[in-house]
Amino acid sequence: MASPLLPSVTTSIASFRPALFPSKSQTNCLVGNGRHWFAVGGSRLLLLPCKAKHGDHNNPSSKNQDEVTSSREGKFDRRDMLFGLGAGGLYGAAAAGLDLNRFALADPIPAPDINKCTLTTEDLKGLDCCPKKTDIIYNFQLPASPPAVLRTRPAAHNAAYHPEYVAKYRLAIELMKGLGEDDPRNFRNQANVHCAYCEGSYHYTMPTKHGIIDGILKEIQVHSSWLFYPFHRWYLYFYERILADLIHDPTFALPFWNWDAPDGMYMPAIFEDDPVLNPLYDANRNAKHRLPGTVLDLNYHGKDGNTKDDNTIINDNLRTMNSKMLSISSTDWCSFFGHPYRAGYQPNPGAGNIESIPHNTVHNWTGTDSSLPPYTGEDMGVFYSAGRDPIFFAHHANVDRMWYLWKNNFGGQDIEDTDWLDSSFLFYDEKQRLVRVTVRDSLDTTLLGYDYQCADIPWIDPAYKPTPRLPANKTEPQVYFAELSAKFPATLDSTISVEVARPEEVRNRSDVEKAKQEEVLVIRGIEFPANVPVKFDVYVNDDASSPSGPDKSEFAGSFVHVRHRHDHIIKTKLTLGITRLLEDLGAAKDDSVVVTLVPRNGEGKITIGGFSIELSPCV
Ligand code: C2O
Repeated sequence: MASPLLPSVTTSIASFRPALFPSKSQTNCLVGNGRHWFAVGGSRLLLLPCKAKHGDHNNPSSKNQDEVTSSREGKFDRRDMLFGLGAGGLYGAAAAGLDLNRFALADPIPAPDINKCTLTTEDLKGLDCCPKKTDIIYNFQLPASPPAVLRTRPAAHNAAYHPEYVAKYRLAIELMKGLGEDDPRNFRNQANVHCAYCEGSYHYTMPTKHGIIDGILKEIQVHSSWLFYPFHRWYLYFYERILADLIHDPTFALPFWNWDAPDGMYMPAIFEDDPVLNPLYDANRNAKHRLPGTVLDLNYHGKDGNTKDDNTIINDNLRTMNSKMLSISSTDWCSFFGHPYRAGYQPNPGAGNIESIPHNTVHNWTGTDSSLPPYTGEDMGVFYSAGRDPIFFAHHANVDRMWYLWKNNFGGQDIEDTDWLDSSFLFYDEKQRLVRVTVRDSLDTTLLGYDYQCADIPWIDPAYKPTPRLPANKTEPQVYFAELSAKFPATLDSTISVEVARPEEVRNRSDVEKAKQEEVLVIRGIEFPANVPVKFDVYVNDDASSPSGPDKSEFAGSFVHVRHRHDHIIKTKLTLGITRLLEDLGAAKDDSVVVTLVPRNGEGKITIGGFSIELSPCV
């Protein structure tokens, strides 16, 4: 049923074409030789760094446009029409809970029952995150073709040079802050959307199965699983539409914090200048890190004491991006998206690469120093308050851009599992209607009416590929290993090393097999209290007495946690793709490797259940 609220506004594209952030030429979006250096996986680099340029949007004969449309045949019906709802969304009203039957034989995570939203525990006393209750839910409907107005998200550090954009953004946030307390679009209520989905306020009812209503309420958690990217995409989508609506400018787009390029590796100035009048300013940010010129460390441990110079931090950041985005096979969807989380599953099955680093480290770097009183890490360093800092949305726009680049530049593919595609969420939209959305409808940003400014991707340069510290094919043992520990579960209070066997099936594989299926190191049974910040680094065949850094192949990755306010024990796992790493170290045929864990934050509070090496199940 079409919503009676659907306006039938028609306008021409030209009148809404923003001249503000012209795309650079396409070739500037990639540096280096434009080729993916990793030989065994993810080698399908498409030269489509920016998708359609503004000027091409209306021109079907343009080469870029052909490239863009080729993979989505028949889906581009370009009409000069402005859809007033959603990305042109028509909503059909439905009563809450009426479509449970469609889940009868599948297990997607259903949308929360907002009328049963609760204050999780005493920990959140006085901080009710729950939204206004209602029984009317609109189902979001994706348009068949992209809306005429494309909102192009600019890099925040470039936006600083466009005072008219900054003025609009600030006005929109100011208006949002001025809305009434019971208005779901209000700034604090929008921040609470994150709180409710992350701090245990929301539950879903276990769906009907085999004719039996389970009826049990289960907690929803949108982090540390495959829900991470789509949940945050939708969150930003509605936030952006609310801002655009408040200033009556359908072209308005959130900026992205371009922390993957050197120019963006600072707290963006538009969020920092004028503490008194700037509504983008937040007093609850790390006082040291907000000093102008302080370089963002994507490998931030969660407390200061870093002695690296600025150049090293910048280079390590680029190497980290190179490893996180390019080191694993583009077919290994768990490494990118995170692990499956289905109805009935325990929350936190495991985060994808980018969620852990740089997503979690940027949260912890931005919030107040949680190693100093009052030890809270607010706003960005703890989930209940993270959305109170406007910088959250710029941070997440760049996280979202990583998904966009993964698909458009690096041949990554979305998950085909219908439990992922049919998982759903609820958000209030710009007209204060509660809308149900699915993961399925979040996959194509063009259909949602936005894309990203073309920005350099410096980390694609092969110069940023980490290199082995130790000579490959070493014959003599040249490393010192901390005492090999075989006793698990173990408390991680200082460096531990353990020898992990590599099963027959992962050794002696051809390049083709390696490209199809990633070999992964799994660290299981990671347990810690949710309200402490945690970080530990993982090394393979490295010198445990002085482990290397992100510039070395031996550095396999890190586990990072952003605090929750809600005090409970989190149990999760860390999975790291090591196919390329083992080739670089000349260890691809070895029977075992030595894995070293170095706690960087939360030491003594982390339990490690055990280790294994296996083929990724995510194929
Ligand atoms: Cu929902 Cu960046 O966290």
